[in-house]
Amino acid sequence: MKTKLFPVICILFLLLLSCTNYSESDLMDSSTQATITYTNSIKSIIDNNCNFCHGNISSNGAPMSLTSYQNVKDAVLSRGLIDRISKAQDAPGMMPYGGTRLPQSNIDQVIAWKNTGFTQ
Ligand code: HEC
Repeated sequence: MKTKLFPVICILFLLLLSCTNYSESDLMDSSTQATITYTNSIKSIIDNNCNFCHGNISSNGAPMSLTSYQNVKDAVLSRGLIDRISKAQDAPGMMPYGGTRLPQSNIDQVIAWKNTGFTQ
């Protein structure tokens, strides 16, 4: 009985050891990925969903362009951009105007971008 259990206990012990292998670089990686930048994330969300109307020359009654870092940052700070994209589907003032609400993950990225200081 003893001789059969011994290898099992050894394997369990090794498994336990392999689970406690934390490294600092693992932790660093996840915090770097969490930083949302205009260039890597926000620009494509806005280009794909908003610039049909909020283009370089805005159209369809849209009052401003959303084609540059500064445009989008200004709209978050003074034109209620996050409020507009957070409204329920078809609520008055929801953006994209007359369209489909953005996926929640995109809305969350814009909020995180604001909260981390509008990284360019
Ligand atoms: C089909 C055209 C169209 C699309 C697409 C569109 N918008 Fe608009 N947007 C408008 C119009 C028209 C207005 C002005 C009417 C209003 O304020 O509701 C407006 C107004 C706004 C305003 C308020 C501006 C102010 O000064 O009050 C914001 C912010 C905004 N849009 C953001 C966005 C964002 C972000 C997107 C993409 C997710 C988007 N829009 C997509 C047409 C559009």
